[in-house]
Amino acid sequence: MSTSDMQAQWQAVAAHQARLADCRMLDLFADDPGRAARYSLDVADLHVDFSKHLLDDAALHGLLALAQAAELPRWRDALFAGDAINNTEGRPALHTALRDRSATPLWVDGVDIKPTVAAMHRQVAELASAVREGRRTGASGQRFTRVVNLGIGGSYWGPALALEALHTFSSSQLRVDFVSTVDPAPLRRLLADCDAASTLFLVSSKSFGTTETLYNYQAARAHLAARLGLDAASRHFVAVTANPGKAQALGFAPDSIITFPEWVGGRYSLWSAIGLPAAIALGADNFAGLLAGAAAMDEHFSSAEPARNLPLLLGLLDVWYASFWGFGSRAVLPYDQGLRLLPTYVQQLMMESNGKGVDRAGQPLHEATCPVIWGGNGNDGEHTFYQLLHQGPATIPTEFLVCAQPDLDLPGHRQRLVAQCLAQAEALLTGAASLDNPHARCPGNRPSTVMVLPALTPHTLGTLLACHEHRTFTSAMLWRINPFDQFGVELGKRLAGTLERELGGETVPGVAHDASTAALFDYCRSRVGG
Ligand code: F6P
Repeated sequence: MSTSDMQAQWQAVAAHQARLADCRMLDLFADDPGRAARYSLDVADLHVDFSKHLLDDAALHGLLALAQAAELPRWRDALFAGDAINNTEGRPALHTALRDRSATPLWVDGVDIKPTVAAMHRQVAELASAVREGRRTGASGQRFTRVVNLGIGGSYWGPALALEALHTFSSSQLRVDFVSTVDPAPLRRLLADCDAASTLFLVSSKSFGTTETLYNYQAARAHLAARLGLDAASRHFVAVTANPGKAQALGFAPDSIITFPEWVGGRYSLWSAIGLPAAIALGADNFAGLLAGAAAMDEHFSSAEPARNLPLLLGLLDVWYASFWGFGSRAVLPYDQGLRLLPTYVQQLMMESNGKGVDRAGQPLHEATCPVIWGGNGNDGEHTFYQLLHQGPATIPTEFLVCAQPDLDLPGHRQRLVAQCLAQAEALLTGAASLDNPHARCPGNRPSTVMVLPALTPHTLGTLLACHEHRTFTSAMLWRINPFDQFGVELGKRLAGTLERELGGETVPGVAHDASTAALFDYCRSRVGG
């Protein structure tokens, strides 16, 4: 399809938005008794109701036509086929290949990548089992009882989320902690509390050039070396990276490095060796279950017809609200403590992928793109920020998640939790009139999606996270964005490098700070030393 087809479809969708601008969702339900059922989907482990949206069949068809005009099916096929769709970095984005257990070869640059993926997963499974079974020990032969992952961004959020969500599957013999930031406090606290002889550090970094992770690695290594001796300490560190050369240069022996391919994006890397902390805590079989869940969603995304394709429809809704309604944020509200980190995980996935103002070719985009993703535990949120969802001036499309499972040991809790989740979605829809007290009036007509999971299992979680990946991809294709680079994060890192040297007392030639930064620098320098 041509640019003019795309523009025509874009205008057609804009016309639907104008038509629906004053619509009441309750009227959409009244006009269409089958709406709740028709705007619901059961895919893999997820039951999703997306009927409470400012959308009717005609607008949905318009969005589906826009997806066709954007050549979404062709881009999706290119994603799965391993084409170099990350055009700015000249490589594929093959997270789907990490969970594809089919025997079909997948050729990238003339090489079948499947054996590489299988070998990486074998290495992960072997190390995870060896640590869990006490076959891989510390230098003194002591069993590892504590594992600490040093990593940030995609080398942190995925494994941390998986561990929290699946804690009921975790080994009780092992404690897994995460240290991400360069803030000295978390590492100091952890080192003060861990027994060097029985602690294994995983240094997880795709690039092995991320300052926060390297600072934490050097400090942890010095700490262990002081207690165990330098040689012994090295038995307590494993590097997980796509840059094994850098890891070796920093002191890792080749047999203490697990490598994963460069074409795995950081925020898409849970499925690679970056998932090692999860594999250790949960066991290799449960890690395989996570991959299988994601594969089920891959299969659905790649084969389901567009009108019944869950990630595709959710991606269209993201575009619909951000670009056509001008809603600048979306809330992710899990009613489940295990999914507490989901909003942050989705935040990195969506905002680092799609938070861009130029298209694949570097041309400016004129429509609004990625919304701000935010959220937190929905039940806690009720007592924190729901006031704004219900009565604030902005409309914030909201996504609720809840597990519908019995919890027999604490009777009543789960039912109450589910009731509160459904009630909030209902309240956002219906609102409340109040003739005598304007302060009590809730306007309602605020859109939401409800996702119901049977329970938090490795398979369910894999399904859910892959759904978010494909939804992010879908919206990127409609915005014509390359979702697989992240140049925007580099500038701040570069400037921090300069300021760090200056705080250390160095004069860096050719650097002139703006007046505000210069004044803050002077204020801080006398306090942090240098
Ligand atoms: O914050 C930018 C980023 O590059 C993310 O994309 C990535 O997940 C994170 O840093 C960590 O990178 P690495 O795994 O290379 O240490």
